[in-house]
Amino acid sequence: MACCHYYEFTESGEEIFSVDATAIKFGAGALGEVGKDARVLGITRAAVFTDRTVRQLEHFQTLIDSLRAAGIEFEVYDRVKVEPTDESFKLASEFAREGNFDGYISMGGGSVIDTCKAANLYATWPADFLAYVNAPLGEALPVPGPVKPHIACPTTSGTGSECTGIAVFDLLELKTKTGIASRELKPTRAVIDPTCTYTLPANVVAASGFDVLSHALESYTALPYTARNRPEHPHLRPISQGANPFSDIGSCEALRLAGLFLERAVADAGDHEARDGMMFAATLAGIAFGNAGVHLPHGMSYSVSGLIRDFYPTGYPDDEPICPHGMSVIVNAPAVFRFTSSACPQRHLKGAELLGADIAGVTEAEAGELLAQKLMALMRSTGMPNGVGGVGYDEKDIPGLVSGAYAQKRLLNNAPKHVDQQSLADLYHNALSYW
Ligand SMILES: [Fe+2]
Repeated sequence: MACCHYYEFTESGEEIFSVDATAIKFGAGALGEVGKDARVLGITRAAVFTDRTVRQLEHFQTLIDSLRAAGIEFEVYDRVKVEPTDESFKLASEFAREGNFDGYISMGGGSVIDTCKAANLYATWPADFLAYVNAPLGEALPVPGPVKPHIACPTTSGTGSECTGIAVFDLLELKTKTGIASRELKPTRAVIDPTCTYTLPANVVAASGFDVLSHALESYTALPYTARNRPEHPHLRPISQGANPFSDIGSCEALRLAGLFLERAVADAGDHEARDGMMFAATLAGIAFGNAGVHLPHGMSYSVSGLIRDFYPTGYPDDEPICPHGMSVIVNAPAVFRFTSSACPQRHLKGAELLGADIAGVTEAEAGELLAQKLMALMRSTGMPNGVGGVGYDEKDIPGLVSGAYAQKRLLNNAPKHVDQQSLADLYHNALSYW
């Protein structure tokens, strides 16, 4: 089975995919141009979203100076919560509603950019909070129309949130993560300045780098878009379309870059070539998964981060236990790719090769194991936890982890193999410890 045969047309299957990409500006010094970019978008009064840590950075001052130089009025909101919740989304939306802004600028990691998307949405199209939230937890109503212009400026080489129409948060009442997904939520422009990552701690670069790597691998191995039934109406075509020929381009290049640069970017903050390379990989993977969608490692990650009890990784705030997003994803990945390999072994083999594994003489039956071994080697050399057990879980936690993951229908349905509660329990069991 060659890769091109992944897209086989069937009688009632989908034959169309669409590409919705954020406009991108990339390079050292790009932040200094945000004021002019905002002007071009017609922004005169901006809400600037960030968090308290980013607000102290020199790069944030560069952004603010560029707004002042362009004569743009603005107010700063720095109360974004790392790992946002429905409550923190609501507070941010209130600020946005009251401020009467005609544009939005976000600077920070995925939490900041996602919070800004939600605030822009609820200020532009007020509704009950659960109206736009993914089913089955929310009503998944379509966003009625365009939101205000949003310029997203990522400071970590990870989430790719600047390129996607997805905003993820913890629904406190149910102790689970869910999100809002709509093409309307895609930032109008991403301004990506890789020099923002030069001061990040090694552990943050590692966790966010594995998020990138997994976005790419999951998009590349997602159910092909042709396997979905053709929708009755074009607007019913999901934002997560499944793997498609366009997302494959970004996924493969992001994997190649991660294979070259992830370990170097973690080992040496002074290795700017590697840190720039991971930032570009994050952008490419963001565009890919923004159009293809991710699947099991992400679907399983939400309960891993949501139920965390006593894990305090270095490089992160230590006021409460936290499993950073990229870590909560990658601890599942080796077990998942061993499981999914039989659905598309050539894609698993190609993924391993792009990450730097030697595939000479490797059979299709061995593809999943080879990819899992490559991932484990990268995890070990960059100080990642040893599986789900490495962040504090054991066998008796599996039912709780499964019930959180089973609610992530959008992600589970995008996997190349069918999963039920038993297969999720097996996956968590197999992910408890790897070495
Ligand atoms: Fe992610």
